[in-house]
Amino acid sequence: MKRLATIPALALLLAACDTAPAASFKDASLTLPDDPLDLPEGPGRDAVIENCTACHSPSTMLQQPKVSPEKWKSIIGKMKTLYKAPIDDAAVPAIVEYMVHVQSQPEPGA
Ligand code: HEC
Repeated sequence: MKRLATIPALALLLAACDTAPAASFKDASLTLPDDPLDLPEGPGRDAVIENCTACHSPSTMLQQPKVSPEKWKSIIGKMKTLYKAPIDDAAVPAIVEYMVHVQSQPEPGA
């Protein structure tokens, strides 16, 4: 008897669900802003593309204060230890070289 009583209750519950407004999705398109910067040519550019661009747009890396090679090495180390970036140790010197090279050039876009 107890079981019979739960069936109408369940039916009521399902009926209540039926009256909930149906979710509808509008077709929406999204245009992301273009990144104004591209990684300029330079030694080690491929290493940067392989190891850094999964998480960063070029402007994130290019619009940084000018720092020493040692500082770049420590920034890259921070990416690995703190943010778990899968950076190839063998690529680190090339990445450092590229960042220093790019920072020695005139401002990108200037
Ligand atoms: C797994 C994702 C990931 C990868 C790969 C990665 N980073 Fe980062 N990076 C972050 C996060 C998260 C931050 C901190 C938040 C932010 O500033 O966007 C950051 C911050 C930075 C900053 C800002 C300054 C600072 O010290 O926080 C620089 C410069 C930077 N990354 C350079 C690099 C370079 C160069 C590489 C390639 C060697 C790299 N990142 C690879 C995730 C990553």
